[in-house]
Amino acid sequence: MATPRLGIIGLGTFGINHLRCFRQLGYTGTAQLVAGCEVNESLLEERQEEFDFAPYTDYAEMLDKEQLDGVTVVTPDHLHHDIVVAAAQAGVNVLCEKPLDVTAKGCVEMIEACQKAGVLLQVDFHKRYDEYHRRMRQKIAAGDLGAIEYGYVHMEDRVEVPRDWFPGWAKSSSPAWFLGIHFYDLARWLLDADGQAVWATGRQDKLAELGIGGWDSISAKVVFDNGTTVAFDTAWILPDGFPAIVNQGIRLVGTEGLLECDSQDRGTMTVCSGDEPANQTHNESFLRVRSDVQGREVWEGYGMTSIEHFVSNVDMLLEGGTLQDLGDYPDGNDGLQATKIATAVHESLETGNVVQI
Ligand SMILES: NC(=O)c1ccc[n+]([C@@H]2O[C@H](COP(=O)([O-])OP(=O)(O)OC[C@H]3O[C@@H](n4cnc5c(N)ncnc54)[C@H](O)[C@@H]3O)[C@@H](O)[C@H]2O)c1
Repeated sequence: MATPRLGIIGLGTFGINHLRCFRQLGYTGTAQLVAGCEVNESLLEERQEEFDFAPYTDYAEMLDKEQLDGVTVVTPDHLHHDIVVAAAQAGVNVLCEKPLDVTAKGCVEMIEACQKAGVLLQVDFHKRYDEYHRRMRQKIAAGDLGAIEYGYVHMEDRVEVPRDWFPGWAKSSSPAWFLGIHFYDLARWLLDADGQAVWATGRQDKLAELGIGGWDSISAKVVFDNGTTVAFDTAWILPDGFPAIVNQGIRLVGTEGLLECDSQDRGTMTVCSGDEPANQTHNESFLRVRSDVQGREVWEGYGMTSIEHFVSNVDMLLEGGTLQDLGDYPDGNDGLQATKIATAVHESLETGNVVQI
């Protein structure tokens, strides 16, 4: 094992999970959390105290000084592009949070930069790592559903996500970019097909009322190139009293069978503290915490597995493997195809037309 040297760029709400992942891989010498970069200096200081890494406010300086084997990019969606290209040019393997970029052109540039540099470009589409979704894929591949005719997806966040997590950039994102993208990729991966045409409608009421702006909800119907149609309902206006931060699920119906997976309530844990709603339900498959024999916190679930997969891919490369040896992982083209669906969803919202992808 090579013990990859790792850095993280963007240490906000989701960046903490990348920090947790790399710190705990360090417990077993599997990887080393070397450096973290965050432009918000007080947040950088807070994270550095908790996780102990070389702190930077300038990612170019970090890439230049730290001889990293891999970086993860966890900045807001529209800021992934330049950072990924810079990491590639520095010869560093990259895991980029979803969406890869908010334009297809940007995705292509990122893919080309990584290809030119010969580095790994992986996208954190972690729904592929959910054991239930993996089982769905096996059953579909085995032909249990026959020809899949149609499907339905819902993914809805509590309003605290755009209101409290990132009110500053919620308007430059949307339920399609922040939530839909997960399931656009998952549907592609399950169906082994690409998006072909989209028709979408949406509403802008609640977030406008709250002074945040942008889309409350987006309903998109996507026709895939194998003939399957999937309807995706996405929103981030669920009330604060909803018992989980996210409500989500997928169902697919084929000529020989159907599959339904509700990933909202997978084992209820009663939580009631402070102002939090009582009896919250948690998707424990995504992230759960335990303590190891040394009393250190260890995070598990598919939210960790997908980041760990990047580390094991980097390790394989350091051990002499090539990109072709890595097998299946969500790559730059997967990022591009999911972004193409999301941009078509937005074009349809703006024009009212069916958009060909
Ligand atoms: N995979 C998932 O389930 C999941 C969940 C949440 C967010 N995300 C994705 O992760 C990314 C970050 O989301 P978030 O919720 O953590 O947002 P956030 O706003 O909480 O955090 C982003 C951080 O990046 C920092 N930043 C911005 N520009 C920077 C730069 N040039 N250098 C260093 N730091 C910089 C910001 O200061 C901020 O702290 C987004 O792309 C989002 O879509 C993924």
